[in-house]
Amino acid sequence: MQRAQAAARIAALTDELHEHAYRYYALDAPTISDAEYDRRMRELESLEREWPALIRPDSPTRRVGAAPQPGFTPFPHPAPMLSLQNAFSDEELREYDERVRKGLATAGPVEYVAEPKLDGVAIELVYRRGLLEAASTRGDGLVGETVTDNARTIKSVPLKLRAQAGAALPDELVLRGEAIIHKAAFERLNRQREEAGEPSFANPRNAAAGSLRQLDSRVTARRPLEVMLYAPGLDVPGLDSQLALLEWMRAVGFRVNPLSRLCRGPDEVLQAYRELLARRHDLPYEIDGLVVKVNRFAAQRALGEISRSPRWAIAYKFPAVQETTRVEDILVQVGRTGVLTPVAALRPVRVGGVEVSRATLHNQDEIDRKDVRVGDTVVIQRAGDVIPEVVAVIREKRVGDPPRYRLPDTCPACGGRAVREEDEAAKRCSNMACPAQLRERLLHFASREGLDIQGLGEKLVAQLVERGLVRDAADLYALDLPRLAGLERLGEKSAQNLLAQLAASRARPLGRFLFALGIRHVGEHVAGLLAEAFGGLEALAAADEEALQAVPGVGPEVAGSVRAFFAEPANLRALARLRAAGVEPQAPARPGPRGTGAARPLEGKTAVLTGTLATLDRRAAKQLLGALGAKVTGSVSRKTDLLVAGESPGSKLAEAERLGVRVVDEAGLLALAREAGLEPPAP
Ligand code: IVH
Repeated sequence: MQRAQAAARIAALTDELHEHAYRYYALDAPTISDAEYDRRMRELESLEREWPALIRPDSPTRRVGAAPQPGFTPFPHPAPMLSLQNAFSDEELREYDERVRKGLATAGPVEYVAEPKLDGVAIELVYRRGLLEAASTRGDGLVGETVTDNARTIKSVPLKLRAQAGAALPDELVLRGEAIIHKAAFERLNRQREEAGEPSFANPRNAAAGSLRQLDSRVTARRPLEVMLYAPGLDVPGLDSQLALLEWMRAVGFRVNPLSRLCRGPDEVLQAYRELLARRHDLPYEIDGLVVKVNRFAAQRALGEISRSPRWAIAYKFPAVQETTRVEDILVQVGRTGVLTPVAALRPVRVGGVEVSRATLHNQDEIDRKDVRVGDTVVIQRAGDVIPEVVAVIREKRVGDPPRYRLPDTCPACGGRAVREEDEAAKRCSNMACPAQLRERLLHFASREGLDIQGLGEKLVAQLVERGLVRDAADLYALDLPRLAGLERLGEKSAQNLLAQLAASRARPLGRFLFALGIRHVGEHVAGLLAEAFGGLEALAAADEEALQAVPGVGPEVAGSVRAFFAEPANLRALARLRAAGVEPQAPARPGPRGTGAARPLEGKTAVLTGTLATLDRRAAKQLLGALGAKVTGSVSRKTDLLVAGESPGSKLAEAERLGVRVVDEAGLLALAREAGLEPPAP
């Protein structure tokens, strides 16, 4: 190939690859396959190897990272990088709007742009004649750290901008945005780090900051950073509003958050806040609030700034999902299958509007990995419907050298030997007669998804076990008024109700009975499948692994565990005792309960509403739950199947989490309705 030909091909490939990167990263609308993109990239790489003098400064091959730097070069910002004032309530947001209107001396509604507040690390990009010239972190707001080589490795940072009508490309362009790492990429990154024996990052923000501030840009190149822009560093001539800026930035090649929107006045801003809050946990990246900006640049200039924050913008923060607090103690809970679960007892803190005083530590491996010790200051997290967990220890705050924590070798409930089987994360109490296991098994047996024995709650079960009145589920059916008479907090009326409930529970559907038995890996859904497929306990007990696996939805794990259950003489004795006590699960009517059931996914379930929902009012939400088959009650108990939590959920959410009740937000409820083919009622 001649030099001229090579130069032409290199130029064509460079331009083409920029175009495709733009379609991919900025527009989310690629027009060629990843493989095709890679092929062209390789062709360009090989031409550049042959003709190094022809490499263009904006070549997309230059994203691999450069040699390590001895330290960061200071980067004086062309204009200070300010921070934002915060609002924490609707009221504070309205007060802010009043200040803005006063500042602008207008009575009418102000135009705002409401944008997701990305939870990453701020970055400033400088372009000269359309080419990326420099990148910097925020630093102290006046002087940042130069991270140009690092920024070049981030695919969503264009190396060359697209020429554009509207505002022409100024000679010098300074723009700002956020470098973030997506939640899924963060999980992957942490897994890799753990495998490599490196400390994991506490959250995506720390991971993003750590990845951007690397002296060796080859490390940054391997990190899944993404940059979204949201602000000018210097005025861009020809643009007169934030909305126009966002559009223009997208047109010249940047990634811009598609959820940003124009709001007229505070009501629309509050609506945007609620909608974003409801979607928060469904977004692939973390956000921690809504940034509200006065749209018109002329109005922004008129408002000016005060003590390092602009008067033309405010961050309306979401309730935090992470908090730091102290581990006061590490307790051990014994589950139904004997698993010992370590739980951190915390100095209570509010996380996401709920007071949290316990967080799970999962198992010994997790404790070792995070090295959690009593007395440590830790980051805890409570996101969406997951139970609170300890995310990381803040090592700098550790005082002295407290001993490492080890799960006990004996069960804290019964003193039985606690053992950890090979290839199991969990340590289990090996005592079949452990009262803690028995209590949990009985509660599971009586749960709503199980035999639904109302009135058989935690306190009562504890007494029955403690007094030796109940040693297994069959003993429940031997209870009578005289035996229940001496129990605390159980009047005669409640005792009678309980006996009636027990009587009724003898004839529950087979699927519920199978679930109630607590066979490993047999949840509500699988229990229903097995009941439908085998129609009776005898047929199921006789099924071999092959027959079990022939049931759609049943894999080797479930099949093995069902076989193991029926191979255990103690289980067969327990089943015989239940039969003798008159427990006779009902075979499913054939054909199976399809059709109506599919449209009423919450049939027979109890739901509770709490907090304010963004689009549905209480009446509408109740109506929708009813249409899905649920009964709506006022308070959360062990019998609650579902909590629908809106904004400011309060104590019901905490209670639901303590009891392990499924929690959904409004988006989750609407998704259920959609799946069932229901239209949400008009508010
Ligand atoms: S505008 C003067 N818009 O929040 C305001 N900031 O304390 C310039 N942030 O350091 C920032 N998302 O890192 C703006 N859509 C957004 C943002 C955003 C996240 C961060 C940014 C800034 C901090 C404010």
